[in-house]
Amino acid sequence: MDLKHSTVLITGGTSGIGLEMVKQFTEQGAKVIVTGRNPDSLAETGKRFPKVHTLQSDVSKPKDIEQLYKDVTQQFPDLNIIINNAGLMRLMDLQDTTFDLENVSLEVATNLTGTIQMAYQFLPHLLTKKSAAIVNISSGIAFMAYSCAPVYSASKAGVRAFTQALRLQLEDTNVKVFDVIPPGVNTNLQNDWVLPPNPSMMMDADKMVNIVIKGLLNDKPEIKPFLVGVIKTVSRILPGLLIRFGHKEFNKFKQLNKGKRIQ
Ligand SMILES: NC(=O)c1ccc[n+]([C@@H]2O[C@H](COP(=O)([O-])OP(=O)(O)OC[C@H]3O[C@@H](n4cnc5c(N)ncnc54)[C@H](OP(=O)(O)O)[C@@H]3O)[C@@H](O)[C@H]2O)c1
Repeated sequence: MDLKHSTVLITGGTSGIGLEMVKQFTEQGAKVIVTGRNPDSLAETGKRFPKVHTLQSDVSKPKDIEQLYKDVTQQFPDLNIIINNAGLMRLMDLQDTTFDLENVSLEVATNLTGTIQMAYQFLPHLLTKKSAAIVNISSGIAFMAYSCAPVYSASKAGVRAFTQALRLQLEDTNVKVFDVIPPGVNTNLQNDWVLPPNPSMMMDADKMVNIVIKGLLNDKPEIKPFLVGVIKTVSRILPGLLIRFGHKEFNKFKQLNKGKRIQ
């Protein structure tokens, strides 16, 4: 993909991987448009990157996606890349009865349904471009469900399956479909967790995004660091091993979560 002459829409571009993508895509010479829900974070991003255009939009709301499509295609008719990055991840004990039904599946609405609806909404526009791309951010967890985050695991396995199917449907078109598969990355995603992630297992966002940029420039359909390649292979050869390994953390989380709920 040529990035220098591209116009790129990044959902959830005000923090973590999205914000780092804003920085590195801008450095590549791309025109960047960013969304998010929090107006203060959008204003902060606009201040830090004056050339970047910010729009408030919630990917879990279909009406917001429809409006975003109208606004972006009107103001930026050259748009040729969308990056479905907006996401959230909660640790969750499904025996905890405090979730209501809408809230319990919020990761599916944001990470998976949001990605599908964005791709569907913008596809007719992207098909009119000489060179275009849909970039979906899944996760290493797509290969190994993490029992502390069951709904997130389901959402990311879904993103990966959707991305693979979409790529096949679009193989004879000008729209390339990329699957970005990060491992654990130091961002704000884990800020609210009662059980913090193991820092030695985490990658920095700048390194991850560097891999994304190289992957896009080289048209690699599946963009992942070495560690995720290992996870993918092990999950095939020894299915169940990594899931059991990750599940060791569930009892710790359950205890901490109980303590938090009683307070
Ligand atoms: N960090 C990791 O370990 C890791 C690993 C694998 C995959 N990923 C994936 O990478 C992506 C980015 O995550 P991150 O780690 O950079 O997290 P982050 O630092 O928490 O950033 C998330 C971004 O998404 C936005 N967002 C959240 N919900 C949204 C919604 N409904 N509509 C629009 N924007 C929304 C947030 O802004 P507002 O809150 O203002 O909306 C923020 O800009 C996610 O899809 C995540 O699942 C992360």
